[in-house]
Amino acid sequence: MKRAIIIGASSGIGHEVARLLITQGWTVGVAARRMEKLADLQDCAPERVYTARIDVTDDGAEASLLQLIERMGGLDLYFHAAGIGWKNPTLEAETELKTMETNAAGFTRMVGCAYRYFAAHGGGHIACITSIAGTKGLGPAPAYSATKAMQNTYLQALEQLAACKHHDIHFTDIRPGFVDTPLLAGTSHLPMLMTTENVAHSIVKAINSRRHICVIDTRWRILTFFWRLIPNWIWRRMKLC
Ligand SMILES: NC(=O)c1ccc[n+]([C@@H]2O[C@H](COP(=O)([O-])OP(=O)(O)OC[C@H]3O[C@@H](n4cnc5c(N)ncnc54)[C@H](OP(=O)(O)O)[C@@H]3O)[C@@H](O)[C@H]2O)c1
Repeated sequence: MKRAIIIGASSGIGHEVARLLITQGWTVGVAARRMEKLADLQDCAPERVYTARIDVTDDGAEASLLQLIERMGGLDLYFHAAGIGWKNPTLEAETELKTMETNAAGFTRMVGCAYRYFAAHGGGHIACITSIAGTKGLGPAPAYSATKAMQNTYLQALEQLAACKHHDIHFTDIRPGFVDTPLLAGTSHLPMLMTTENVAHSIVKAINSRRHICVIDTRWRILTFFWRLIPNWIWRRMKLC
């Protein structure tokens, strides 16, 4: 029986991936700040679902993750879905810093803890939802796009570190385009919007086939391919705000 922990399972993509893994027979640990939003997952299979309150910005979050792993009797897959993001063209400081705290510092804290656990316990799989937003810096969402690029680079670095140290840890960097979740609430006219159900299916498939990087879906894969090719002198002048 496989065991997975999903941080950021209380809504959106993380919630749907948790539901799918539970349906497929995994033992699943689900965590977030809003524990009441985890209750329906526990109701799916009370004997195989463990819940915990974890805030990735708390100093105690690593200890809480290790406690959850202990309650589950070990871990095969660490799945990081926790994240926040807003458009912030006025550079409102609190918004920028909160995004950095959650998506950069919180991400580093939790993924590092999972890495050290797997390194000491014979290996495992770390999969994280980053985003296509890290492809290039986005004027309307500076902290969000910067933290997503940081996550992409951090996972690439850990992958090289694991190979160098002969740690049997596999990584999957999942980069979705727009997904219809509370994160995008209030944003209208989003092109190529995807459902959480379709995205969760693609994510579980990417994890099972041990993909290194997975852009979801094909339309976004094509778009990001060309997006990356835009020269910086043109990108600087593009009016996205
Ligand atoms: N929606 C999109 O278009 C899209 C596209 C590409 C990538 N993504 C990424 O996908 C991930 C999931 O986002 P989503 O779209 O599913 O949004 P969502 O529905 O708002 O879910 C975000 C999840 O992160 C958790 N979270 C936020 N801050 C946290 C913290 N400090 N500690 C622990 N958990 C925290 C939330 O739980 P609590 O609030 O209960 O703590 C919630 O479960 C994010 O990293 C996002 O950047 C989203």
